[in-house]
Amino acid sequence: MSDEDVQLEARLEEQEVFEPPESFVDQANVSDPGIYEEFEENWPECWEQAADLLDWEESYDTVLDDSNPPFYEWFTGGSLNASANCLDRHLGERGDEAAIEWVGEPTDEEDITYTYEDLHREVNEFAAALRDQGVEEDDVVTMYMPMIPQLPIAMLACARIGAPHSVVFAGFSADALATRMNAADSEYLITCDGYYRRGDPLDHLSKANEGLAGVDHEVQTVAIAERLRDGDGFDHDYADNQVAFEALQSDHEGATVDPVSRDAEDMLFLMYTSGTTGEPKGVKHTTGGYLSYAAWTSQSVLDIKPEDTYFCSADIGWITGHSYIIYGPLALGTTTMMYEGTPDYPDKDRLWEIIEDYEATQLYTAPTAIRAFMKWGEEYPDSHDLSSLRLLGTVGEPINPRAWKWYYKHIGDESAPVVDTWWQTETGGMMLTTLPGVGDMKPGSAGPPLPGISADIVDVSGSPVEAGQAGYLVVNKPWPGMLRTLYKNDERFIDEYWREYSDVDSDDPADWVYFPEDGAKIDQDGYITVLGRVDDVLNVSGHRLGTMEIESAIVGVEGVAEAAVVGGDHEIKGEAVYAYVITEDGYEETEELRQQIIEGVEDAIGPIARPEQVIFTPELPKTRSGKIMRRLLEDIANGEELGDTSTLRNPDVVSDIQSKVSSD
Ligand code: WTA
Repeated sequence: MSDEDVQLEARLEEQEVFEPPESFVDQANVSDPGIYEEFEENWPECWEQAADLLDWEESYDTVLDDSNPPFYEWFTGGSLNASANCLDRHLGERGDEAAIEWVGEPTDEEDITYTYEDLHREVNEFAAALRDQGVEEDDVVTMYMPMIPQLPIAMLACARIGAPHSVVFAGFSADALATRMNAADSEYLITCDGYYRRGDPLDHLSKANEGLAGVDHEVQTVAIAERLRDGDGFDHDYADNQVAFEALQSDHEGATVDPVSRDAEDMLFLMYTSGTTGEPKGVKHTTGGYLSYAAWTSQSVLDIKPEDTYFCSADIGWITGHSYIIYGPLALGTTTMMYEGTPDYPDKDRLWEIIEDYEATQLYTAPTAIRAFMKWGEEYPDSHDLSSLRLLGTVGEPINPRAWKWYYKHIGDESAPVVDTWWQTETGGMMLTTLPGVGDMKPGSAGPPLPGISADIVDVSGSPVEAGQAGYLVVNKPWPGMLRTLYKNDERFIDEYWREYSDVDSDDPADWVYFPEDGAKIDQDGYITVLGRVDDVLNVSGHRLGTMEIESAIVGVEGVAEAAVVGGDHEIKGEAVYAYVITEDGYEETEELRQQIIEGVEDAIGPIARPEQVIFTPELPKTRSGKIMRRLLEDIANGEELGDTSTLRNPDVVSDIQSKVSSD
């Protein structure tokens, strides 16, 4: 490093507050600080601003119906179609402009540009095919696909005919697919033959077929996108209900399907996410509220303009990809990038190469990726021209100030604001973040609630804590993008998100408080730092994993009697899975069993849940009432000093476990 660099680093390291760059403010979609007051004074009508970003077939008569909390309804009486909002209405002015720029992982493959015209055509053909296959309005269609163009085509085709989609992340296992199709009673699956990962073709259809074998009802149609190229394919015989995606489309070449008019509150999609219990939660999002909120936050936080080339590196299989690769950006008529592969293939500068090639204007990624970039070294971004980037964003987990500053300096050249956006699958869109053209940034802190969002940090009894104190994050008022319920399970919806801090017998919305199950603290300026989950959910590389799901996979392995899973700190992943396992009588603590446990987890959930360490132990530390002391197991995983363990029923076990973790 030159002297100048050293000085710069030192200055950055000390700096705690960063003003939005003037050049950014001058062109920002939102730059008037008055927006906070304006929204507060005019709540909930302020949310008409979000609804106004869409085209409505029938305009709504009520902004918010809060007569039956927590079953809030937004923009009632209105009707619209999400596919028409993301495609048809842009055809006039932007038909020839790129809607999606798709970049495959293999470097010898041509990128594909889908103009709005192209995408509209593809979506219509596939929508016609789905209808022909018997898909009706309100049928749930499951997608089990990686980052290939047929995924958004299928999603928008479903939206067009009013069939909610349920996208299952392609990295999830066959079992996970079956569980989700069963939970949603979904009779249609759209998948693919395979895809590329780090240069190798992966067989995806075998995994899909294995999942289908676990579906407990009849599956009408399986559409298979043929992604692999000649010679890279695997030999698959299609079953009678299986047909190539491309064949379905070409059978309907040139077909058009009128977008179905959906009520604002009609379901747009389901997304399964992990919770405290082993059963994934089917989060229900609606057409009017969700789409308005995705569009509004894309515009005000990501500063998206139609002429941008916006790049979010998430996977569409997660909520970030739904809201901020597909629905928000396309609703605004911009160009959204889709990259199939990993950021280190063929080399660690792949993202920077893509950004340079396409002159991308925004990058929205996750702290886990930023930590990996940091580790790989700044020479990778430094060798590319990233000056097109106007805004940077992060999402998925807390970002430490050092990673934030590295991102700000090495990717944004200190001229692009960073938005650290806190939100969840359930919230549909961003909730806490600075507005990039308005608020100062504080590395490590997401920022204040967005205009119109009312959040607090409270103690166990629900009273707000003082600035600087840690507590629980709660949201006091509904917002358009919120989940409406858990699919076919209103009771669980109330139990999971509301019961903790609400008076559940009350009809008064003021008595209802949403609890996201995150710990947080707030500073004197109202900036919120989210500390992490307070339930038994881990955040591994920004992916939400339930400890119960992992534990039940482990106890499903022959020879395992009991298991406890906790998160241990990890330099890149943020958290890593630590599994403490007790073997059954008659079974040895062998390397073979360890492998079977790892495979058991991969089969039940997917490689993302793979345990970092499997620690065999004769006992688990338990309280006198028999509860597993997870906090203690976490401290052991992290090699931390342990507090008083004398209240345990079995204090002797602790040193034994400790020695095993460190020796592994
Ligand atoms: C965590 C992802 C700190 C949080 C959009 C939340 C964050 C969970 C942030 C939701 C952030 C997300 N700072 N923590 N900026 N963003 N989280 O449903 O614990 O996959 O509850 O949604 O990720 O994860 P989910």
